Amino acid sequence: MSAQAEVRRITAPEIRARKGGEPIVTLTAYHAHTAALADDLVELLLVGDSLGMVMHGMETTVPVTLEMMIIQGQAVVRGSKRALVVVDMPFGSYEASPAQAFENSIRVLKETGAGAVKLEGGVRTAETIRFLTERGIPVMGHIGLTPQSVLTLGGFRAQGRDQKDWDIFLADAKAVDEAGCFSIVVEAVAEPLAAKITELVKAPTIGIGASAVCDGQILVMEDMLGLNERVPKFVKKYGSLKDHIRGAIEGYAAEVRDRSFPAPEHTYSMRKAAE
Ligand code: KIV
Repeated sequence: MSAQAEVRRITAPEIRARKGGEPIVTLTAYHAHTAALADDLVELLLVGDSLGMVMHGMETTVPVTLEMMIIQGQAVVRGSKRALVVVDMPFGSYEASPAQAFENSIRVLKETGAGAVKLEGGVRTAETIRFLTERGIPVMGHIGLTPQSVLTLGGFRAQGRDQKDWDIFLADAKAVDEAGCFSIVVEAVAEPLAAKITELVKAPTIGIGASAVCDGQILVMEDMLGLNERVPKFVKKYGSLKDHIRGAIEGYAAEVRDRSFPAPEHTYSMRKAAE
């Protein structure tokens, strides 16, 4: 037997079993190279539909297509070995009916090799989530601020900051939990509401802008690496890649202009002619 233990993928039931335990570390990834860098440091990689805004400069996630999610899902699965890969179902790919959601989720799982899908919405999506989970599809829920609803919400705003609104979010949490989600993203809600939701549901909550009371945390990788100038209040920048990349490009541009790049070590010489 080889001395090196085989690396095995974390599964959705293993994430579910982490409720109330060590915090679950999660990041978004859209590419093989960033997935490979994060793979052994996180438990879960989400191929978020935020890729529409982060990679493609879209104003919202609404225009993102199933094909875009499948291509980037394939890249993240190729780049990782250990983390559970979850692919976001984009707007329009699951809302029409449970059958539509099933067909498209199956495409995502078969064509990417990912271990689960994520669907936004609470009470309104619960019947669909149950349809999927009862048929062998692991589903991550997403409640609180649901960015795919931006056209009806009118913007990206923190939710549940008035206690009078809590019943809606608690009903959403209960509905997706009972529908069988293995984990639930809770986005941009006030800390006391996040605490109440985390206490209420059996699935681990993964917070983004939902405080440290959640069972795990997720951030958009490009935001926490400091690639984007404008980020939501809940993002902490752990790096300043933007400055680093600008500095590298400035160096390259200057050396091309003054002809110091390519140097002799980057240049092919002719083979010596045979005597
Ligand atoms: O699309 C995404 O990246 C997400 C996370 C921010 C939770 O849904």
